[in-house]
This record gives sequence, C-alpha cells and structure tokens, in this order.
Amino acid sequence: MNYNNILSTTENGITTITINRPSKLNALNRDTIQELHDAFYEANQSIDTKVIIVTGSGEKAFVAGADISEFADFNVEEGGKLAAKGQELLFDFVENLSTPAIAAVNGFALGGGLELAMACHFRVASSNAKMGLPEVSLGVIPGYGGTQRLPQLVGKGRAMEMVMTAGMIDANQALNYGLVNHVVEQEELLPLAEKIANKIMRNSSVAIAEAIAAVNANYKDGVDGYQAEIVAFGNCFGTEDFIEGTTAFLEKRKADFPGR
Ligand code: COA
Repeated sequence: MNYNNILSTTENGITTITINRPSKLNALNRDTIQELHDAFYEANQSIDTKVIIVTGSGEKAFVAGADISEFADFNVEEGGKLAAKGQELLFDFVENLSTPAIAAVNGFALGGGLELAMACHFRVASSNAKMGLPEVSLGVIPGYGGTQRLPQLVGKGRAMEMVMTAGMIDANQALNYGLVNHVVEQEELLPLAEKIANKIMRNSSVAIAEAIAAVNANYKDGVDGYQAEIVAFGNCFGTEDFIEGTTAFLEKRKADFPGR
C-alpha cells in the first residue's frame, strides 16, 4: 500500500513502520493516524510479518505529539470524539495486536507520541530521546490513553508528576522509570530493535499472540487475568506450534514452528 505520511517496509519477518513527517517532528495528524492504523492492520494480517517496529524519521523526533494545529479550534464534542476515535483506531488497536509491536523511540516522544510508544508492547530508546506528556501546558490532558498507560508503566506517583509538570524526562530517566527497556546510541537503535525482534521470531508466534492477550488481560476492567491466562494456556494445546515445540524439545532439536 502507498502512504503519504508513513513508510512501511517488510524484510526478514520484520515490518518497520516509520512515521515520516520530519518537518513537523512527525506530529500525528488525522491522516497519519489512519495510515498508521492501516499499516499496523496490514502487518498484523500478513504471514510475512512476525514483529513490528515503529519509529520516527529523522534524527530529532519519534513523534512530537498529536498535531496541535488540527484541534486548536475544537469544541467539547469534537474534543471527545477526537480522543475516542484515536484510541479505537490506533492506540487500543496497537496494544491489542497479536503481532509483537516494539517502539524504537529515536528522539522526542511527546503527548500522542509517548502514548503511541506506550501502546506498543515495549519500548527501546536512543540516548537523545526525550519523553513527556505536555498536554496540561496546552490546557488539555492526554487523550490517547496516556493517563492510563503511563501509571501502569511507571507507577502512579511518577505519572502524576510527569502529567502535572508537563515536563520531559531523558532516556536514562525513562530507563530508570521502566518506561523503556534499553537505551543505546541512535545509530544502534534499529539494530537493537531488530536483534530483539529476531530473538522473538525464534519462538512460536501463535503462543506469543496468546501471551500478549493474557498479559493485556491484567489491564482490562472486569476481566480476570488469571482466568484469561488459563483459557490462553489451554488454547495453546490445540496448536501445531505446541506439537512442534514439545516434539522438538523431546527430540533434542530446534523447533521449526509452522506459525499461524
Ligand atoms: N503539532 C503540530 N506541529 C508540531 C508539533 C505538534 N505536536 N510539534 C512540532 N510541530 C512543528 C512545529 O510547529 C514546527 O513547524 P514549523 O516549522 O512549520 O513552524 C516544526 O514541527 C518543528 O518544531 P519546532 O517547535 O520548531 O522545533 P524545536 O526543536 O524548537 O522544539 C519541541 C521541539 C518538541 C520542544 C516543540 O516542537 C514542541 O514543544 N512541540 C509540541 C509538543 C507538544 O506539546 N505535544 C503534545 C501535543 S498534545
């Protein structure tokens, strides 16, 4: 598919989605959100994609937020709809993908940018990365899940401070908070994400999809995560990957998972 605001390439099982509006620090406007949805959807459906990496183009920004110029004149109803649509189309959608999604944060990840990174299954960052939720400095609050996912990742007190101060933390602070898993120099960022992706790809994609659903169940209101884990665990026993994984172990050879 051809996109105007993003790039999507697939090689050796990895789809890399690059938000490509460097002159606007990759800010998320309506079209970019729709294109990201389409690219994530397509990658998740494709048997050629085992892991998705999302990053920003240029050396300065992952994503500097939602596009402020698009919502500056919105009223109450339009504001609510903007958040609802964005959450459904992109942020909740990414969190619930059955294909692992890694955010490679290569610079500013602010507002909707940090929210996108947090919707991914985990994050790695370059040493120049800066992260924050600056919305209250604009008279608004995070609307793409930031008030929910940031406390899940860093704890309530740290999240409250970040949201209230609208300040930025640097990559090392983010590492210290557990917001990102690894920090490396910028030129090592995509190679690191790819190295982790390759480790993931050695395992059963079918089991990984069940694991993502089970982990996410912990964060869903009214869902018993332990019960969800029991169901997901049971599901694995009906898969060809399970037969191959256990057989390969007993035969002392490497598993060659048929996958989905
Ligand atoms: N929405 C729309 N445009 C944005 C943007 C956003 N969230 N973030 C950056 N841009 C645009 C700027 O308007 C500028 O466009 P222009 O060249 O046409 O004037 C361009 O990207 C470059 O940004 P600039 O501010 O000149 O870069 P900088 O290095 O001086 O500052 C930031 C970088 C990230 C500190 C600054 O751009 C910023 O504060 N952005 C907004 C962050 C934010 O509040 N995000 C949350 C939105 S809810």
